Amino acid sequence: MKVKVEKYPGLSIGNNGHLCFSGADCVRLAKQFGTPLYVISEDVFRDTCRAQRAAFEKHCPDAHISFSTKALTALALMRIAVQEGLGLDASSPGELFGALKAGCKPENTILHGNFKKAEDLEFALGKKVGRIVVDSFEEIEELDAVARRMKVRARVQVRVNPGVEAHTFELLKVGMLDSKFGLPLQNGDALEAVRRILKKKNLDFMGVHYHIGSQILDPSPFRIAAERAMEFLLALRREAGATVRELNIGGGLPVRYDSRHPMPTPEQFARQVCGTVKKIAKDNGLDMPRIILEPGRSVAGPAGITLYTVGPVKHIPGIRDYVTVDGGLSDNVRPGLYGATYDGLLANKAASAARMKPFRVCGRHCETDTLFQSLHLPDPAYGDILAVLSTGAYNYSMSSNYNKFPRPAMVAVSKGKARLIMERETYADLYRKDLTEGKG
Ligand code: LLP
Repeated sequence: MKVKVEKYPGLSIGNNGHLCFSGADCVRLAKQFGTPLYVISEDVFRDTCRAQRAAFEKHCPDAHISFSTKALTALALMRIAVQEGLGLDASSPGELFGALKAGCKPENTILHGNFKKAEDLEFALGKKVGRIVVDSFEEIEELDAVARRMKVRARVQVRVNPGVEAHTFELLKVGMLDSKFGLPLQNGDALEAVRRILKKKNLDFMGVHYHIGSQILDPSPFRIAAERAMEFLLALRREAGATVRELNIGGGLPVRYDSRHPMPTPEQFARQVCGTVKKIAKDNGLDMPRIILEPGRSVAGPAGITLYTVGPVKHIPGIRDYVTVDGGLSDNVRPGLYGATYDGLLANKAASAARMKPFRVCGRHCETDTLFQSLHLPDPAYGDILAVLSTGAYNYSMSSNYNKFPRPAMVAVSKGKARLIMERETYADLYRKDLTEGKG
């Protein structure tokens, strides 16, 4: 039941028995910055960026990695991704704004979304966005019209739906046919979309995009999706005379949420995808498209942990024991929304030899707010510090102010040193846009 700390990059146990992240004592961090606290290891974040680049560039030397900022929309981290040679992916104009603010060159940005409004497209083209991934026939018309008005040519990729079933949480599957995302390959919509794009003077067809889901632990759906996409590339050449310069395979690489489970490496995914694409291209005399991937979770997830202070511990004899922490639903909605599970341990008792017992860990929102259905802990007590692991992705970015809890601060740690990269929200922040008397 004990978490295997050594399975998590950046984590260690100090001589004082405290959990350390990137060499920084987590108990000290909690004291210095308060809790709940998002802690991001800059070292792990850089390492994951590098490892993914190395894995894909080994198999496809001109592969390009675009960090999916939706996983962690913190300017300091986006900036690091840029320093590590990654582009930035935005799923909304707001994320695009952030990507540019973080210092990404406009040509290295990609804008997604299943309904981008005319004003979104205008904003993106005005900022000289690198690629717009079109998702519908309506968007093709809208984008062409906006680009014509602005007298620019928009570089587009077409989001297709390869109809691949990836094994992951139900809500995170998007590549299967029954999905709001992408133009289906099966019924000819994807082909028709490219035909229409090729006829538009203000659209520059760059390539094909798909994303089959998130937290995919088995690399084989990546191979199957790549095969289907390559069949589509061949059909495009045959039936529309189209050249596809880029094949964007989306995100989906997994992270460790349980120290007992085996984890595939980025290299395994790279081998599946690049091997498939290269072989089909070679066998059919097709120019190799540039492989682009958009990892979010796998880059940011392992780089983050969240620290909480333990509050009341409640024993209900014969039923269950509860541990309360000073955060929950508003800083990590994933257990409630997806039934997501994590590893966790007491940072101040990381080396404790006390017997581990199961506790239901809940937050302090006015809701069921269960963070862990059952977590084994050694003698948890009021004032302890609970560390939840692998929270770097989709925790901060999906946070809310439910019950008017201010969002936590975020610190970046590197080689034992910490710096504040996001201030804790204040109560005043919570009401900043709220007009008591109304106006107009
Ligand atoms: N590209 C596209 C077009 C996407 O839709 C996504 C994620 C990604 C890339 C990045 O995927 P990743 O590498 O992170 O798997 N909120 C959910 C995850 C939703 C993912 C949505 N799209 C969660 O908390 O698990």
